[in-house]
Amino acid sequence: MTAELLIGLDIGTTGAKGLLVSLDGRIVGRSFAEYPLYTPRPGWCEQMPDDWWGAAVKVLRELAINASGEIAAIGLTGQMHGAVFLDGKLEVIRPAILWNDARTGRECAEIEHIVGKEYLRKITGNPALAGFQAPKILWLRKHEPENYKRVGAVVLPKDYVRLKLTGDLATDVSDASGTLLLDLAKRDWSNEILTALDIPREWLPQTYESPEVTGKISKEAERLTGIPCGTPVVAGAGDNAASAVGAGVVKDGTGLVSLGSSGVVFVHLDEPRPDPAGAIHCFCHAVPGKYHLMGVILSAGASLRWFRDVLGSEEKEVGSRTGLDPYELFTREAEFAPPGADGLFFLPYLSGERTPHMDPAARGAWIGLSLAHRRPHLVRALLEGVAFALKDAFVRIQRLGPDPRELRAVGGGMRSSLWRTVIASVLEVPLRRLAVEEGAAYGAALLAGVGAKLYNDVYEAVDKAVKLHAECTLPDPRLVQIYQKIYPLYARLYPSLKATGVFT
Ligand code: XUL
Repeated sequence: MTAELLIGLDIGTTGAKGLLVSLDGRIVGRSFAEYPLYTPRPGWCEQMPDDWWGAAVKVLRELAINASGEIAAIGLTGQMHGAVFLDGKLEVIRPAILWNDARTGRECAEIEHIVGKEYLRKITGNPALAGFQAPKILWLRKHEPENYKRVGAVVLPKDYVRLKLTGDLATDVSDASGTLLLDLAKRDWSNEILTALDIPREWLPQTYESPEVTGKISKEAERLTGIPCGTPVVAGAGDNAASAVGAGVVKDGTGLVSLGSSGVVFVHLDEPRPDPAGAIHCFCHAVPGKYHLMGVILSAGASLRWFRDVLGSEEKEVGSRTGLDPYELFTREAEFAPPGADGLFFLPYLSGERTPHMDPAARGAWIGLSLAHRRPHLVRALLEGVAFALKDAFVRIQRLGPDPRELRAVGGGMRSSLWRTVIASVLEVPLRRLAVEEGAAYGAALLAGVGAKLYNDVYEAVDKAVKLHAECTLPDPRLVQIYQKIYPLYARLYPSLKATGVFT
């Protein structure tokens, strides 16, 4: 057997996904295991780190059984920003607080007050945003002092799985950028910010560039997963930076738009360029020494999932009877409503909003309902509302300079040709899919290949493995015209609603 296979493992919001990838980029094995998301109060989102671990074990075991060659290395990726609080023995103290959790509005204000808005932006590249990790640490200190007293380490979701796999406390700079504790220029923790916030540096894992090896599979992890002890594990990346690697977005002028649970517009940068308005994130990229800009809407695919769960029992039932994807059924239904959904708007702020409003208290809405509206209108307005929210991010990125001529389209939602066409027409940019569209886990596998020295660097990994789809989704001129008229109205809805005091 030769060392020829790479594993990418993604600790996502809906489940853990693992891929076995050959060096030329082919998928030779895949596995997925779901886990629950808990919303104990409106605006709160939590998961059990041991559910991640259980799913990771299941996924890795399946990949190990099916591997037809030697596994050269594993790359980790996952949902960003989550806070996993561990005690002195590295045991989990409480459920992890996730990226889409909106409880920390007050703590964000407190951080900006203590550190200073300008200084915070200068060092970390970002304002204090609910969902980022640092405000969660302050929240625990204030609201759960008994738990806070026990804290010995705070890690990000994928890094909890790393700890279980290798016994090491480590992270990568792209994911660490989403804590609000990283010095963006130094690509390491900021002692100044840690001191100002009274967070001990010893609580944080060591930082690495994404392709660096951080440890090896332990004997115990081998017993559970079947992956041989000693297999190297690389630092990996936050899911968006890993997706970007998997989509070949590793050079200036390239970018992507992703439709997963969250919606993301992402562009590569050679140098850091924080947004003075703070609406767009500036983070380290998974490419050593490089950066990226990113706008994040919190409920993109999650809005459609919510619709499925709350209003889609019929489609769910048809789906389970016929094997048809309920999402496919919804998006087909939306085709029965005209562009603009006969005046119906949807605000996708179901868990507050990050870009551009940075308002954890924002909430979703359909606006403009009439007796003439039917379910297809509701769905169409939802798909269009998500596209407008992505435009809110894209126009702000363009204002900062980058103006990619084409965006790579990634994430489950992009499988819908209607949704893709709506997004291309709203953003007014062609969308290019990938021949192999496997998201963050794929990028993590490529990073593993760089760490195992099977590729010289991330660029070579991308050249050898990433292939673009021949077909491109172009903006539809008729839709462009319609959306150019409607988008300014959409953009006025949030400020008007906010002014009423309805979001508190
Ligand atoms: C990025 C973000 C989300 C999560 C979802 O800032 O919060 O994209 O990473 O997985």
